[in-house]
Amino acid sequence: MKFYIGTDHAGFEIKKDIENILKRLNCEVVDLGTYSKESVDYPDFGHKVARAVLKDEGSFGVVVCGTGIGISISANKHKGIRAALCHDAYSAKMARAHNDANILAFGQRMVGLGVIESMIEAFVTTSFEGGRHLKRVEKIEV
Ligand code: RB5
Repeated sequence: MKFYIGTDHAGFEIKKDIENILKRLNCEVVDLGTYSKESVDYPDFGHKVARAVLKDEGSFGVVVCGTGIGISISANKHKGIRAALCHDAYSAKMARAHNDANILAFGQRMVGLGVIESMIEAFVTTSFEGGRHLKRVEKIEV
């Protein structure tokens, strides 16, 4: 699996850990920034990752800001993006299984590294179940 990752300054510190977790799970990683702790605007990185995922069919994204709220809202403005704001392994697993989420979002200020690792693992190792969920996912777009 290929992942584009993007954070604002409030998610910057965890970005290297995210990359290492994904690589341990045999995923390819493209780091789209931010590249320092200097204050930036989370929509810029939500949009960057969303555009990259849409352009590269079959790829996924991880986006992080302080709460995960602003950057997931931004990514979800793009047609075809389903960014799931998750707080634990169960929500990350169900985001893939039932919602076919293509971006995992979370807040660095909300969860610790252990939870982050379990969310990424759940997201990477769970497939979309399709079936009755496909019709519902198709209804999301307006
Ligand atoms: C930045 O301070 C913070 O507002 C941002 O990272 C995010 O939490 C917004 O949703």
